Amino acid sequence: MRLAKVRGFFHPIIAAFASLSVLVIFWIGGYFVIKKVITIGEFIAFNGTIGYLLMPTIFIGWIMSMLQRSRASLERIGEVIGEANVLRDINVDSGIKTLSGDIRIDNLSFSYNKEKEILSNFSLSIKSGEMVAIIGEVGVGKSTVINLMQRIYAPPKNSIFYDGNDVFRIPLEILHANINYVSQEPHIFSGSIRDNISYIDQVDTTLDAIIWAAKFADIAKDIESFPNAYDTLIGENGITLSGGQKQRIALARAIINRPKILMLDNVFSAVDTETEDNILQNLLQLKGHITTIIVAHRVSTLKHCDKIILLKEGMVLASGTHEELMHNKDYMDIYEKQI
Ligand SMILES: Nc1ncnc2c1ncn2[C@@H]1O[C@H](COP(=O)(O)OP(=O)(O)O)[C@@H](O)[C@H]1O
Ligand SMILES: [Mg+2]
Repeated sequence: MRLAKVRGFFHPIIAAFASLSVLVIFWIGGYFVIKKVITIGEFIAFNGTIGYLLMPTIFIGWIMSMLQRSRASLERIGEVIGEANVLRDINVDSGIKTLSGDIRIDNLSFSYNKEKEILSNFSLSIKSGEMVAIIGEVGVGKSTVINLMQRIYAPPKNSIFYDGNDVFRIPLEILHANINYVSQEPHIFSGSIRDNISYIDQVDTTLDAIIWAAKFADIAKDIESFPNAYDTLIGENGITLSGGQKQRIALARAIINRPKILMLDNVFSAVDTETEDNILQNLLQLKGHITTIIVAHRVSTLKHCDKIILLKEGMVLASGTHEELMHNKDYMDIYEKQI
């Protein structure tokens, strides 16, 4: 508002002075020409010269005002750019070059804001190559656990360990290179299916590898039915995929370089039960090689996991193999309902 007032005040004044100067020049100059003090040529030359000077003078003022306004904008952009990134390495052990897939969570309590504790004293231990399922109602904190394990949000110190090292000791680059993650809402890039599956840079991107990954995720048949198979464009400029197809493309992308650790957050939410079973069977083949953490709903498909964690209100209500949990009332309630 102040800027608008100042401009509203100065612009007419400047314009008035500019016009007045023309009047003054003609008045006095005309008088001098009539009195033969100067020639008419001199008068025209003077008038032209003034014209040359006028615009640059106006522009100097204009540039000054532009500079001031840009500086104000730059300060605001600077605030955003300068904001500290929670995802950064502080005091890491640069000797850690890879992860074996051994994970331990110790008494993890976490809240996004002070009001509500999402996880309370959550503990879990996963040996390298094990397959673990996390189940529980919507909003109990399943995705939160998965996010914290990857340091997408910062967990408390000394609560999450990989190979016995606190997660903060592991360089983020190493952590993220060893964990492949499929989120509940996977992102599909506009481009070909081939590029979408093979975009992770260290990957061997032969068509064979891509087809293997697509078969693993039970999406190969869908892809082959598309007009250009693996070169079919998807996303903004191409065909539209169903939710389940997106989830399976994202799964193929996550498995293609056979990571040490695979985290699947609700990737079966939009696929039918038969497809879910097929994918589970494929995942079971990798037991012993890839540590897999699956967030899912259907108990019957998770039977073969090494461990099933039942979450309720941010706490582990029960955990164990399917057989062990058959004695647990809460687990059996869910199981029977689903059957
Ligand atoms: N970024 C966030 N900020 C604040 N609260 C969040 C955030 N993400 C999730 N929550 C809350 O944390 C709880 C657990 O969420 P989430 O882990 O996504 O549950 P689930 O995956 O088990 O359905 C929910 O009550 C949710 O509202
Ligand atoms: Mg979730």
